[in-house]
Amino acid sequence: MVSPVRIAPSILSADFARLGEEVRAVDAAGADWIHVDVMDGHFVPNLTIGPMVVKALRPHTAKPLDVHLMIAPVDHFLDAFAEAGADILTIHPEAGPHVHRSVQRIKALGKQAGIALNPGTPAKMLDYLIDEIDLVLVMSVNPGFGGQSFIESQLRKIEAVRKMIDRSGRAIALEVDGGIDAATAPRVIAAGADALVAGTATFRGGPSAYADNIRKLRGS
Ligand code: DX5
Ligand code: ZN
Repeated sequence: MVSPVRIAPSILSADFARLGEEVRAVDAAGADWIHVDVMDGHFVPNLTIGPMVVKALRPHTAKPLDVHLMIAPVDHFLDAFAEAGADILTIHPEAGPHVHRSVQRIKALGKQAGIALNPGTPAKMLDYLIDEIDLVLVMSVNPGFGGQSFIESQLRKIEAVRKMIDRSGRAIALEVDGGIDAATAPRVIAAGADALVAGTATFRGGPSAYADNIRKLRGS
């Protein structure tokens, strides 16, 4: 059985001068998780926020903080993000020499571990990680910026990852990130996604539109 889809607004598209209020607003508007995009200006060509901001946001919501780490090397920041209050820590396999060890560290910190697959990274990367992880994040854009167009070829990858997860028999979330809106959401859900990151499509129109925007992503 496919679980109901979870919506994870990416605060990358929020008003950074009012981040706490923005998190409270999307929480109240029906977000399931809060997606936090951490970029280092090196692994990806953009620079965003660090553990201090995650810590500052923590009291603003009881929903899971879904922290997407686009930083390399990632290992020496895992403890800091865990202590800051992240619930899910998602890493890219290219962000360090020993991805399995990084996953073990996330689990040892008592957090859920996610693996993010860039558009050019094959699903096969998961072969020897699938039994350890809690989430797969299929990137449907190249990471670095909000507001990019959905890359069609990733639909096949979502289908392949769905099969791998079902074969594993484990409760692993299949999240998709990039270019998700009311038109692409039903397509990725049909391919097997059960969690959707949406920045532009959530925050468009300001706080009074958030509930409607999230409802449209769910297809209801
Ligand atoms: C891209 C980030 C995404 C991004 C999605 O590097 O990982 O989470 O904010 O933005 P939209 O939904 O605008 O494509
Ligand atoms: Zn992201």
